[in-house]
Amino acid sequence: MYIDPANKLFLSAFFVIILGTIGFFIASIFLDFKGDEDIQTVNFKNSDFHVNIKRLKSDKSYVLQVHRDKWLQDIYIGNDFGDKKIQVVELENGYKISTRDSSEITFTLDVDNEDFSSLYVKRRITKKELIVQDCLPLYTNENVNWYGGPEQMDQRYPIQSFEFTDYAYITKELHSAAIMERYWFSSRAFFILIDYETPLFLDQDGEHICFTAKKQLPYYTHNNVFEFNYRIGSAKTMKEMHVNVINKFLGKPKSLPDSRLIKYPIFNTWVEYGREINEEKVLDYAQKIIDNGFKYSLLDIDDFWEDCYGSTIVNTTNFGNLKALTSRLKAEGFIVGMWVHPFINKNCEPYYSEAKANGYLVESHNGSTDTQWWNSGTSQAGHVNFAKPAVQSWFRKKLEAIQNEHGIDIFKFDAGETSWFPADPVFEYDLDLTPSQITRSFVKMAADFGDKLEIRTGWGTQYLHVLVRMLDFDSRWTANNGLKSLIPTLLQFNLNGYVFVLPDMIGGNQYGNDVITKELFIRWLQASTFMPALQFSHAPWHFDDETIAISRKFTELHEQYSDYILERFNLAVTDGQPVNPPIWWLDETDEKALTIADEYLLGDKILVAPVIEQGKTSRDVYLPIGKWRDGNDDQIYEGGKLIENYQAPLDKLPWFIREEDAN
Ligand SMILES: *[C@@H]1O[C@H](CO)[C@@H](O)[C@H](O)[C@H]1NC(C)=O
Ligand SMILES: *[C@@H]1O[C@H](CO)[C@@H](O)[C@H](O)[C@H]1NC(C)=O
Repeated sequence: MYIDPANKLFLSAFFVIILGTIGFFIASIFLDFKGDEDIQTVNFKNSDFHVNIKRLKSDKSYVLQVHRDKWLQDIYIGNDFGDKKIQVVELENGYKISTRDSSEITFTLDVDNEDFSSLYVKRRITKKELIVQDCLPLYTNENVNWYGGPEQMDQRYPIQSFEFTDYAYITKELHSAAIMERYWFSSRAFFILIDYETPLFLDQDGEHICFTAKKQLPYYTHNNVFEFNYRIGSAKTMKEMHVNVINKFLGKPKSLPDSRLIKYPIFNTWVEYGREINEEKVLDYAQKIIDNGFKYSLLDIDDFWEDCYGSTIVNTTNFGNLKALTSRLKAEGFIVGMWVHPFINKNCEPYYSEAKANGYLVESHNGSTDTQWWNSGTSQAGHVNFAKPAVQSWFRKKLEAIQNEHGIDIFKFDAGETSWFPADPVFEYDLDLTPSQITRSFVKMAADFGDKLEIRTGWGTQYLHVLVRMLDFDSRWTANNGLKSLIPTLLQFNLNGYVFVLPDMIGGNQYGNDVITKELFIRWLQASTFMPALQFSHAPWHFDDETIAISRKFTELHEQYSDYILERFNLAVTDGQPVNPPIWWLDETDEKALTIADEYLLGDKILVAPVIEQGKTSRDVYLPIGKWRDGNDDQIYEGGKLIENYQAPLDKLPWFIREEDAN
């Protein structure tokens, strides 16, 4: 039940009167439940932040009321404290509330700075069958907007329109849920960040978001204890708050990817040639890239180069002399990459049996290692268990052997989400992190291979220097995994601290009956131009000379701004700043800016407003505060305004530069 604060006051007054006479009696049963004394306040010394811990008269449950200057947010604590004898103990820096049957929750000062405050809410649950759920009203009818949350195929931005029911909050392939950080924040400059150890399920509807902790699959279920811990907090502004969360909790990158991957396009054989790749096709692709006048960085040999999936042995029928091929490509200036995955198929012998016998595959508690992926039949594969350090070094050696023998520079690491190994896996370490710890160990192992890496998942791995690719897009215009979800996904990555974003291949993957049209291809390229890297697969020369010319124009524009991208990369490392923030980054008091999902910034200087609707040659562009110079014709616009019907024929990307000394 959600009661707004005004009603709560009224209710409080009402109950004080009604219960007044029986107050003494009540007080003798429920400690700390007499009249006004049902509110404890955690006060912060260094700011106006404070949190009331209030027991509701209605059902005796608790609600946290978070304030900074003014009231920001309620959190309904759904433990089983209602109707039970409870004990409230004041701690040095907060409170502990416990019941006689050992449920216990503590609220303690976490960070107490002038510019940033957070409270740590910690709950240890010792009964396996208990389900605890805390709920936050979203206040959408009060124009509050929400950000952060999961990566999804139908990515929302802002995220309050998402709907989830009992959604296991782990990295998974389904719905493209590969970046699943447990961080949500609102335009009231309030955040909640839930610990990785919590077995978390998400419920969300138009009005509230609920976080449930329960001891159920896909989490670890073989002991009784679990924890439901999170931080809540605030700062003066949403921007300041976010940067603090990145610096203090989520983590910021420690170093940068190779600048060549940022300056020049990446080319990948996947959409162009599909699964059946060979030497001839790779050479053909490289030659056409050169002949059509494109600059380039990485050339990725994607999918089936192995003699069977998981052998990591090159198929010599298809690649008669891979070393000679890589030498040739490197002589032309390509960085040569190869696709790798964490699976071994059952028909891939003797590699499968060896790995299984050595205990290198993820095993379920029922003893089975069987799983499947997109290149195997049902139960026809195993998944390498990266949660074991010994397995990591074994896998790493296999990849190093490929590098040494065949001159491969680097790898594109595919998969890595928890969807791909048997349910209820046996892990030896970090049981509370089951099952997503395998995502983390996989990504960490990958990151050891240097600074030219592509991965597509992460879990607390914002500190790594890898490019994180958006999960495969479809070749469509729609907001359901098509072009329209590109910008929301870019913003979701950035606001969760993954700032080295590799947008998916230009035009999407052309799966099923999808067709990459010339228009979709060009609009996709334009939308990606001020993102950190460009990746082609379906080739521009499939269309016509105009497409080639336009493609060169925008890859050159990207190159021209790559120094600025790298400057922002450096700021991400030093200060935890996003590379591609949403446009409210420039003015979070601008209500309109808070909800714009089809524009993005590069740093705090460039605003990009691509045409992402089929058949359109104009669009409305919203410019936030400041003076803006049109990137196309130098015309100056005053910000805080909507430019209606901005003309953008197929070869034009609307983009704007913020004038530094505008005032
Ligand atoms: C290699 O590729 C060829 C052609 O696709 C295929 O016929 C063969 O089975 C593959 N495996 C080996 C071990 O050569
Ligand atoms: C073992 O567990 C997996 C995952 O839950 C399940 O798919 C499989 O059917 C089980 N196998 C047996 C033999 O019980």
